[in-house]
Amino acid sequence: MPNSAASTLLHLITTTTPLLLLLLLLLTTRVSATDHIVGANQGWNPGINYTLWSNNQTFYVGDLISFRYQKTQYNVFEVNETGYDNCTIEGAVGNWSSGKDFIPLNKAKRYYFICGTGGCFNGMKVSVIVHPLPSPPKPAIAASHASTKSAAAAAAAARGIYSMLVLMGLFPFIWIGL
Ligand SMILES: *[C@@H]1O[C@H](CO)[C@@H](O)[C@H](O)[C@H]1NC(C)=O
Ligand SMILES: *[C@@H]1O[C@H](CO)[C@@H](O)[C@H](O)[C@H]1NC(C)=O
Ligand SMILES: *[C@@H]1O[C@H](CO)[C@@H](O)[C@H](O)[C@H]1NC(C)=O
Ligand SMILES: *[C@@H]1O[C@H](CO)[C@@H](O)[C@H](O)[C@H]1NC(C)=O
Ligand SMILES: *[C@@H]1O[C@H](CO)[C@@H](O)[C@H](O)[C@H]1NC(C)=O
Repeated sequence: MPNSAASTLLHLITTTTPLLLLLLLLLTTRVSATDHIVGANQGWNPGINYTLWSNNQTFYVGDLISFRYQKTQYNVFEVNETGYDNCTIEGAVGNWSSGKDFIPLNKAKRYYFICGTGGCFNGMKVSVIVHPLPSPPKPAIAASHASTKSAAAAAAAARGIYSMLVLMGLFPFIWIGL
């Protein structure tokens, strides 16, 4: 007699669990790129510690970093580690000078930007670590700290939902003494 009820419940659990997991996956997947405005409302200016600013954000591949400044006074150079440490623009990878520059961060690596008009010596240098996207297509590559954390969170949540469903499914039978 309770066999059909049990199989209906089992059917319900096996059909809804994948759907819930899919929903969870969609909820935890990033959908849009972020524009990181250097220095927030202080912009790109001397005397600001941009290490504090960059430590306070998480950058992902496909995000933008944008610099806002007086174009008659400052500019932006993408350099390597040596250029960043020494405030030199030799061998710069790129330069921008519009006063409102949007630079795409297309690679998972550390980027270095400095001001090429002398402002670098007064703190106008910023370095950011760009993480790979924590997306399902390349789980093996996405071994960054952030993606490991969100994957673990998703797994924990899935376990929670699963045990809840199992409990909900079993409870009526325990109740009627089965
Ligand atoms: C900026 O802040 C970081 C983190 O607190 C610190 O390590 C660094 O020395 C500071 N840089 C300057 C130029 O003050
Ligand atoms: C870090 O980010 C938070 C939230 O966006 C903000 O309130 C805080 O002022 C930031 N701190 C620094 C040092 O930029
Ligand atoms: C850059 O600075 C470092 C010390 O921070 C120094 O050892 C190195 O020689 C400098 N390189 C150049 C190319 O000036
Ligand atoms: C940075 O670029 C300069 C100039 O091309 C080069 O001499 C230097 O070795 C590079 N530094 C690093 C850390 O790649
Ligand atoms: C700035 O970039 C342009 C190409 O966009 C290049 O022709 C120029 O030499 C660069 N300037 C410096 C000082 O590196």
